[in-house]
Amino acid sequence: MRRTVIAGNWKMNMTPSQTKAFITELAPMVAGMDKCDIVLCVPYVDIATAVEAAKGTNIKIGAENVHFAESGAYTGEISAAMLKEIGTEYVVIGHSERRQYFGETDTTVNLRTKAALAAGLKVILCLGEVKDERLNGITNEIVRMQTKLDLLGVSAEEMKNVIIAYEPVWAIGTGLTATPEQADETCGVIRGALCELYGCEVAEATTVQYGGSMNDANAAELLAKVNVDGGLIGGASLKTDKFTAIVKAANA
Ligand code: PGA
Repeated sequence: MRRTVIAGNWKMNMTPSQTKAFITELAPMVAGMDKCDIVLCVPYVDIATAVEAAKGTNIKIGAENVHFAESGAYTGEISAAMLKEIGTEYVVIGHSERRQYFGETDTTVNLRTKAALAAGLKVILCLGEVKDERLNGITNEIVRMQTKLDLLGVSAEEMKNVIIAYEPVWAIGTGLTATPEQADETCGVIRGALCELYGCEVAEATTVQYGGSMNDANAAELLAKVNVDGGLIGGASLKTDKFTAIVKAANA
């Protein structure tokens, strides 16, 4: 059976000292809540501190992006090997903010995904439609296309280390949440595309999260849906009590 994964995406928030304080406070609050995996994806400079603070707890640490080259003249970028060496386990790839503000395309998302998997990182691959696409009734086509393009050349074996985060762009940071029915349906469409790519056994074993204004108040009904295997949480992952409430909902 696929795992439920509750992952925080801190975005550009928290310094290393704030990171240490946050994880020290969070760890006892989520101790023993083992029906889901708990991940915090944090800014690069916070990773080493986060890994140290999370030692011996059930909290795993991820990065928010990774470059696709092994090394070389890519000023300002970070490689998968660098992340691995400091104890990073997960990496978010293709977040809509990267696609929107930093020119990320399905091609670069695919390259990053393959580089991360080759280095032994677990990938949280983000995709989802923008508002006009949903209004025009082409959500299913968009997420199917993104799923297939972003995973080009990724093997069925490597899918063990891939989590998909379905994140409707109109719901991210807006306070608008997809209804549980919308989230369930579109996560199901993504699973259908995975079934076409890898066979339904692999598709059934792949975690497909929902992300977009998930919070302590709406998590339980989203997570109750059969195709929603967890959440990628932005704003609500910056408060230990709110994040814990979501983890608790996933453990109910
Ligand atoms: P949000 O962000 O929970 O603040 O909407 C989700 C995300 O960007 O992953």
